[in-house]
Amino acid sequence: MVFSNGCLGNKISSPMNRRSFLQFLGQGALGLAIHPTLLAAASTIDPPLVRGIAPCAEDDLRLAAGFSYDILIRWNDSISDRHRFGFNNDFTAFLPDDPLHPNRGTLWVNHEYLDARFVSPNGASTNKSIQQVRREMYQVGGSILRIEKDEAGNWQVDSEAPQNRRLHALTEIPFAWPEPIYGSEVAIGTLANCSGGITPWGTILTCEENYDMFWGERHPETGEVKYKKKNLGWQDHYDHPPEHYGWVVEVNLQTGEARKLVALGRCAHECATVHELADGRVVVYTGDDANDECLYKFVSSKPGSLIEGTLYVANTIAGLWESLDYETQAVLQENFRDQTDVLIHLRRASKLVGGTPLDRPEDIEIDPLTGAVLVSLTNNKPKGNHHGAILKIEESESYAGLTFRPSMFLAGGEETGFSCPDNMAFDGAGNLWFTSDISGRAMHKAPYTVFKNNGLFVVPRRGPQAGQVIQIASAPNDAEFTGPSFAPDGKTLFLSVQHPGETSTSIKELSSNWPEGGSSLPRSAVVTIRGEGLEALQAL
Ligand code: FEO
Ligand code: CA
Ligand code: CA
Repeated sequence: MVFSNGCLGNKISSPMNRRSFLQFLGQGALGLAIHPTLLAAASTIDPPLVRGIAPCAEDDLRLAAGFSYDILIRWNDSISDRHRFGFNNDFTAFLPDDPLHPNRGTLWVNHEYLDARFVSPNGASTNKSIQQVRREMYQVGGSILRIEKDEAGNWQVDSEAPQNRRLHALTEIPFAWPEPIYGSEVAIGTLANCSGGITPWGTILTCEENYDMFWGERHPETGEVKYKKKNLGWQDHYDHPPEHYGWVVEVNLQTGEARKLVALGRCAHECATVHELADGRVVVYTGDDANDECLYKFVSSKPGSLIEGTLYVANTIAGLWESLDYETQAVLQENFRDQTDVLIHLRRASKLVGGTPLDRPEDIEIDPLTGAVLVSLTNNKPKGNHHGAILKIEESESYAGLTFRPSMFLAGGEETGFSCPDNMAFDGAGNLWFTSDISGRAMHKAPYTVFKNNGLFVVPRRGPQAGQVIQIASAPNDAEFTGPSFAPDGKTLFLSVQHPGETSTSIKELSSNWPEGGSSLPRSAVVTIRGEGLEALQAL
């Protein structure tokens, strides 16, 4: 293997290391490992040059020439006569009614967490009424929206559509598992919904990430639930066990029915990326977004099942998928009661079988041109990795196989012009789009000063700019772009703008007023990005 353990584990931190990765890739300062078959397939007609934007520090959504955006929906907008759009939108998934004419369909949007100060006048208080807590619980989860595009190309939410609805922290959701989870077959609510995925059968997967912000975590020895210092205080009115959160949740957008997929394990799931095998079985990749946590894949044993199968954790040092199957792993039998116990305490189990601690594995996408599995490793500040990287996993035999080749695909840093890669999406031509997530508190301070506000970037796959990292959009103050996804015709990029103004010291001293400007409260929103620039990049 070319890279040392540290490269694929925790230590991709120093500029020296990043430079040596780039030298290995042979691409110099704008290095990207382009697959040889891709270069061979490049047409002799090059697409027009894309002119990116420089990093920007304005409280606005700025776009490169050739791109424009419209706001589709903002926090607290009405989505029906009964429901409103939730807080901090993240993952988006557009399922068209007709993929050949994708002008109408259903959009799922995650709502990850909330800033209580913006939700109610005394939101920062620790002494909340049950009504106030319930108002906050309604802000997270997800939204189902019917949307359509008019002849001028403008997208609108059909707020009359009966399908529009919310899932939130008070919605009853059963566990898809033969055993009860912490004494119950049903959880109350879904929350911390970060990124997700789409199944081959047209449901969506929404991932419960930082559930401990809401319901804490149980101490493994004392059994006591410890809450985060700055928690929302919901536990003053509700007693929901942390074991009921941290799952991947499957949602049927037609009916709103949901179920928690216990077989995929419990951790701070960022995303769940599904690949269907030729025999109908599925492989689901998912990352646990925390410092020194792991990358997983579930391989089903039956076609279309998200219940029956085996969960594996990545050993990126040896290039092995290590089984988390209780029946065949003696070390799990010594430390856990049964498979359910393993899945609930996934982090501890994964270390016992040889899972490699990684630098915050976030989004995962499968490269449509090479078949490689790309994994964003956002950063690991305690280990000195401030800028993160994108890891490449090449499965040796098949997506269901147990061996793989890990390598570095693209390293963050000043040389490449981005830091802290997070959500990714491939467009119809195989161009890689990704967002950055420099936290609001770290932004504009060393070592992040040069990157300014968070951005949206594209890596073209052919033409004179192939392999370059080009910034296409800059986010409003404090915000990160999340949840990029494309309509099937490639003409619309759905993108979430999440947590503008999160470092505001109070609602009277706001650090962002996006999108309405003036002295208005900042509001997360989903935007639709269109334009000749978007289409030119995909014109092969
Ligand atoms: Fe919610 Fe890991 O981002
Ligand atoms: Ca994220
Ligand atoms: Ca993130």
